[in-house]
Amino acid sequence: MPAENLKSLLEQRVTAAMRAAGIGDADPSVAVAARPEFGDYQVNGIMAAAKALRRNPRELAGSVIAQLDLVGLAEPAEVAGPGFINIRLTAHFLAAQADSAAALVGPARQRQTVVVDYSAPNLAKEMHVGHLRSTIIGDAVSRVLVAAGHRVVKQNHVGDWGTQFGMLLQYLEDTGADSDVLADLETFYQAAKLRFDADAAFAERARAKVVALQGGDAEARTLWQAFVDISLSHCEAVYHRLGVSLQRSDVQAESAYNDALPGVVTSLAAAGLLTQSQGAQCVFLDEFLGKGDEPLPLIVRKSDGGYLYSTTDLAAVRYRVDTLRADRILYFVDARQTLHFRQIFAVARKAGFAPVTVSLEHHPFGSMLGRDGRPFRTRDGGVVKLIDLLDEAELRAYALVSEKNPSLAESERRSIARAVGIGAVKYADLSKHRSSDYTFDWDAMLSFDGNTAPYLQYAYTRIVSLFEKGQVAPADLTGTPVIEAAAERSLALTLARYPETIAMVADTALPHHLCTYLHELAARYMQFYEQCPVLTAEPAQRASRLLWCQRTALTMRHGLTLLGIETVDRM
Ligand code: ARG
Repeated sequence: MPAENLKSLLEQRVTAAMRAAGIGDADPSVAVAARPEFGDYQVNGIMAAAKALRRNPRELAGSVIAQLDLVGLAEPAEVAGPGFINIRLTAHFLAAQADSAAALVGPARQRQTVVVDYSAPNLAKEMHVGHLRSTIIGDAVSRVLVAAGHRVVKQNHVGDWGTQFGMLLQYLEDTGADSDVLADLETFYQAAKLRFDADAAFAERARAKVVALQGGDAEARTLWQAFVDISLSHCEAVYHRLGVSLQRSDVQAESAYNDALPGVVTSLAAAGLLTQSQGAQCVFLDEFLGKGDEPLPLIVRKSDGGYLYSTTDLAAVRYRVDTLRADRILYFVDARQTLHFRQIFAVARKAGFAPVTVSLEHHPFGSMLGRDGRPFRTRDGGVVKLIDLLDEAELRAYALVSEKNPSLAESERRSIARAVGIGAVKYADLSKHRSSDYTFDWDAMLSFDGNTAPYLQYAYTRIVSLFEKGQVAPADLTGTPVIEAAAERSLALTLARYPETIAMVADTALPHHLCTYLHELAARYMQFYEQCPVLTAEPAQRASRLLWCQRTALTMRHGLTLLGIETVDRM
């Protein structure tokens, strides 16, 4: 039996009790929250409901409790303070929860098709740190959505169609199209740009190249395809190093929408949404005003007939709704594109491209800052290539591991360094609230104390080494653990909260909740480990405690895997 989402199970029971008590449909402010410091869970919002009903809150709480059926789950509930209800689960129920293999989160109550738009670099240049957050966060949320039982369709909306491609293709043609030239895309881009700015005839040919490309000229297409393939293989090298699950088949590039763009404009016209402004086709909506309150246009076709980033995004909404059958579309794109997405969503609704039943969600994130509080850059002020950043992460982790455990074989230290270095970079990003800026700090992220990947990975190795020391094969452990000591109870409660944590991350697209959870789990385990001897306990207790260790290890590894972080057996 898969583990239950306890929070939603309790919420259902409370809702039923409120109906039975004649309070009508549950007040939306009434919700259940995990409150380990006051009992296990607490019903909140009774005070607000009482106010609306003009009733005494404690008395209202009492009448909910009178109808609350928690048999087999919890001790009789109690009114607390001004009108809270505290729920304390029975030890028996808790132990059984933790028993239903931690890794198995129940299927989603309503299985949805969720389209996740993430990573999406522009292929003109190599991936740099600006792409890190979207890639890492989008990948973690995709895995969590799958674990929560949803169908996920990943969409890597790479930029392969903009005007810079004319410049790059022309330069590629002039220099000879072989992969050596493109081994370093960044340098190639700089050289092409230099030529473009200095040489008017070249610039002229470059502009003609874009027109040829977008018009379907076969030769331009072949050259472009070669360029795109090489650039995508650069991205894939980064994904591979990062342990990101994106595949070539997840790429749905901007160019894929080229043929759909005229239809977008026609439909907008048919919906009466188009206005001609200075030769361009625009949509003006009342809710978008610029500086000085003048209406702000969303331009969908330029006066020269060219289409824009916005037009492509409107076509993409249509494709995701009509063809992919999305119930939710999530965009992991940095906060600077907030206005763009607000406009796209509003226009898509007005034009009927996305019915209200489809949820359109921009999940923005802040920038990555250096320790000086400024955008993260190389020492000489350049953009940091992702591949270089990952090399550095592994090098630093290697030094750390070698210092901590010099006796391990070199090859093992290398593979631990990979897990720890890459894990540290990813975790540092995932553990902060997604929408704030965050400071990229090697020392903090590689520290073995605090809310870091190395701390969690190390906690995991402690459990593995306990099994080794006791010559126990964790896979062979069966049965249900029992709860005796207080530290066992808090560990059990934390384990039981795993499914609701997954559900919360799936709903909010905020992976830091899972990080906070895993950090707390590690802390609870450490307390248990200090207070409850395992290997030296008498046989029945030893067997039960080994099961707690096994559940903890399973949950830790499962959670870290959802975050895209590897575990190792020793470090
Ligand atoms: N390529 C874009 C950029 O680098 C991000 C694309 C995000 N996704 C989208 N559907 N607009 O800014």
